[in-house]
Amino acid sequence: MGKLSRAALLYIGAVVVAAVVLVARGPFTGLSWQYVVFLGILVIVSESRATQLRKGQLTWSSSSAAMLASVVLVGPVGAAMVGACTALGLRRGPSILQRVFNTAMYALSAYLAGRAFIALGGHVGLPDEGSFPGIIAPFAGAALVLVAANHGLLSGVLWLTRSPDQGPATALGSQGVGLSGRLLLSDLGYAAYGLLIAALWSVVGPFAPLLVLIPLFIARWAVAQFAEQQKAYEATVGALCQAVETKDFYTRGHSDRVSRGSVMIAREIGMRGERVEAIRYAGMLHDVGKLGVPTKVLQKTGKLTEEEYAAIQLHPMRGLDIVREIGFLDEALAGIMHHHERIDGRGYPMGLAGTEIPEFARVLAVADAFDSMTSTRSYRGARPVAEAIQELRKWSGTQFDPAFVAAFVAALTREGWQRPEPPGPPVLGTGDLATLTAEDHDDPGSPLRVIDSL
Ligand SMILES: [Fe+2]
Repeated sequence: MGKLSRAALLYIGAVVVAAVVLVARGPFTGLSWQYVVFLGILVIVSESRATQLRKGQLTWSSSSAAMLASVVLVGPVGAAMVGACTALGLRRGPSILQRVFNTAMYALSAYLAGRAFIALGGHVGLPDEGSFPGIIAPFAGAALVLVAANHGLLSGVLWLTRSPDQGPATALGSQGVGLSGRLLLSDLGYAAYGLLIAALWSVVGPFAPLLVLIPLFIARWAVAQFAEQQKAYEATVGALCQAVETKDFYTRGHSDRVSRGSVMIAREIGMRGERVEAIRYAGMLHDVGKLGVPTKVLQKTGKLTEEEYAAIQLHPMRGLDIVREIGFLDEALAGIMHHHERIDGRGYPMGLAGTEIPEFARVLAVADAFDSMTSTRSYRGARPVAEAIQELRKWSGTQFDPAFVAAFVAALTREGWQRPEPPGPPVLGTGDLATLTAEDHDDPGSPLRVIDSL
């Protein structure tokens, strides 16, 4: 709490006082406590089960649906009390101050939504057939007010509690309704379920929220499982990249940049979403086969022997062996295996030519060579982007697919390229002093020697 500024504390205090005063004013006569209790329980369940879909993303809860149902069924004061049930959510994480602020924020937003509903001609109580379609406009207005008030109040606290070096980060964290546009849209989408709950109540009573929200909870659970799976994929790919780059100091960050360049080309040529994601993985893992190449060969200074070239040229096949069983890589496997093929058929490991080379591999080859040229190597400095583009064009049609070179140049011109930092001095082991790579197999300027008998 000590971290919060006086302005932030005053702001939080003002939100809490406003919520308490508005609720305490009532009126409480004629309030249907049955609705308040049932919908309050729904808010508690929603808040206890709020799901964080991705790291850094704001939590996603269906409380807004329950609050909007209460706007229709019990009016502003009842809705504020339902919103205040946020305080009883069982989710771990929020501090006492966060909980107090979230509770006041939801109560105040729900109250304002209730007022908007009445001001726009909405009638508080159980809707019947005659309520439609007249109820839709006041309900939509209430939903907008609820979402805008939530986001507005939260934006205020995020701004006041931001730390100077963290940008929009906050001492209060990112609980509750958030700032992202997508979340705002999802909140508005969820809001529609509030009307459905209120309308169904006249038919099935307190079972209405269950009927409406159980399918949503299940869908959300499935989405959360998917997000977990994505996280596991990222971790797997990240660990393999880390292993490769630990072996080869001068290629640090290379996999990541090849991945970025490949995605730029893929987007430029209009590849569909899942394939763009697959090529991103392919870029990250294209040199994973280096794990199967002796470190002393990867880091050797001076000329490589025929056998050593052969060992390096095995890395696409080794890469395939290593990641073949990882199901989600799918089309990326072809990219990994063939990223050193050349359009003129003089590449390796198979000597494929033209469109025999899988599309992913032709894309990777361009991004791979470009990053190699624009990165520092032990035997030369990084080349300027313009020079690397010239080089890509020079080898276009012999080493690279001209369509992908053109796509990459177009994307580079528009988006630019963040060049890697020149590497600092490597941390050398006792047995391998000054054994840094002398030639980069990705550099089109390096002499190509295809060894036939691997
Ligand atoms: Fe490679």
